[in-house]
Amino acid sequence: MTTNNPKSIIVIFGATGDLAKRKLFPSIFRLYHNGKLSENFAVVGVARRPLSNEEFRENVKQSVSHFQEENVSHDTFASHFHYHPFDVTNKTSYQELKSLLSTLDESYNAEGNRIFYLAMAPEFFGTIAANLKSEGLTSTEGWSRLVIEKPFGHNYESAKELNDQIRQAFTEDQIYRIDHYLGKEMVQNIEVIRFANAIFEPLWNNHYISNIQITSSETLGVEDRGRYYESSGALRDMVQNHILQMVALLAMEPPIKLTTDEIRSEKVKVLRALRPFSEEQAEEYFVRGQYGRGIVDKGEVIGYREENSVDPESNTETFVSGKLMIDNFRWAGVPFYIRTGKRMKEKSTEIVIQFKDLPMNLYFNKGKDIHPNLLVIHIQPDEGITLHLNAQKGGGATSTPIQLNYCNNCGDKMNTPEAYERLLYGCMHGDATNFTHWDEVALSWRFVDTISKAWESNKAQNFPNYESGSMGPKESDALLEKDGFHWWSSITTRLAVGNNDENI
Ligand code: BG6
Repeated sequence: MTTNNPKSIIVIFGATGDLAKRKLFPSIFRLYHNGKLSENFAVVGVARRPLSNEEFRENVKQSVSHFQEENVSHDTFASHFHYHPFDVTNKTSYQELKSLLSTLDESYNAEGNRIFYLAMAPEFFGTIAANLKSEGLTSTEGWSRLVIEKPFGHNYESAKELNDQIRQAFTEDQIYRIDHYLGKEMVQNIEVIRFANAIFEPLWNNHYISNIQITSSETLGVEDRGRYYESSGALRDMVQNHILQMVALLAMEPPIKLTTDEIRSEKVKVLRALRPFSEEQAEEYFVRGQYGRGIVDKGEVIGYREENSVDPESNTETFVSGKLMIDNFRWAGVPFYIRTGKRMKEKSTEIVIQFKDLPMNLYFNKGKDIHPNLLVIHIQPDEGITLHLNAQKGGGATSTPIQLNYCNNCGDKMNTPEAYERLLYGCMHGDATNFTHWDEVALSWRFVDTISKAWESNKAQNFPNYESGSMGPKESDALLEKDGFHWWSSITTRLAVGNNDENI
């Protein structure tokens, strides 16, 4: 193991929850296995349920059991984990945790470095932060950092209230607000594709790009999260955070340096330039949808209103598409179309950059105009880039669409770090670049709040309005058609790797 990795104790609030089991423990395991954790690390699991250290370690081992690495013993790994039953509102609990942390500090020689990871119900975020400070858990020789899972508020007001509470205990540079999309390999790659290639950046503006499309579709429904989702909907759940973050990365100016502050300040400028619109205009720029019954992955599924903990007359949207305009010199006139939804045809996140047509057409493609150039960034499940070009095949004044493909994860998916793995690693190193700054959160909420207000006051009359297993309501197609565009379907844009004669 390397020794220059930071020593720290990670305290996970909500350690018996789903996120800890599915994402955090496996990510910590991979960091450990890849030598990215110092041997001087410990994890303290905190939750309400009484558990012994042994029981907790069994849970941890189970969640990493699919990693069968020869050189890492699951027992040794799990021995770094400790459990502490906890009541978030009771100060005695914090005092007990404090003395446990002091003991572990000594035994692991962790130099007082602490990460407090809040992976639990958001209503307790403020209370926990305040108590950590008032009970002295953040007063150590080393550093203390607070990692916060979403949702960060429900609208601008509640987010501000939460932020004000947290800021009384932690400074902005101690706060790491998670947006797990920022940990994804190909989301991080947006900047590299743009700023490390001489062929793209000169074209990356309204002179050459006609529109940009971001699609993040899911096949799953709301599963057991009906209660949360009823008060959230797709707009708050996906657009306010993940989608707007991708918009910011696609639209920002090159930062003068790759530092956290420079990158964040460029992203903030994009969010500030998002064209605001009135509640009346919300219907013109945005489309909402809710899934009805249908067929997904060859199986019949129920509609949203029939899901557990969902109001049978629910007005909650499970699909959003919209047209965003960025009013600055670079992007004036270029629509950014976004769409996201549950129970759609496939699980896929993809960005399509469509370049403008040539001034005149010398070649035809089977009697039709030539295919526009597209740059497709495949975020998931495939990770890669496809460049759609035109070339001659067979002679004559014809052109055939061809694709240049790069697949990042085709060889060995296991080698691509998980989003949470990167984010935890960044946090341990004090690198907040891939976390959201309060200014970004605030601007994003302000933007989506107008839409949610419009939708709350004007209930949807036609829900459910898309079948499960489709690509959303037809109004979403009409949104682009009135501008003379259409959504690029995944059949056209899919990353095709291998011996496909349409690929070079
Ligand atoms: C989460 C949302 O933030 O992102 C979920 O709360 C959604 O509703 C998930 O399913 C999608 O993440 P991913 O990484 O599967 O695209």
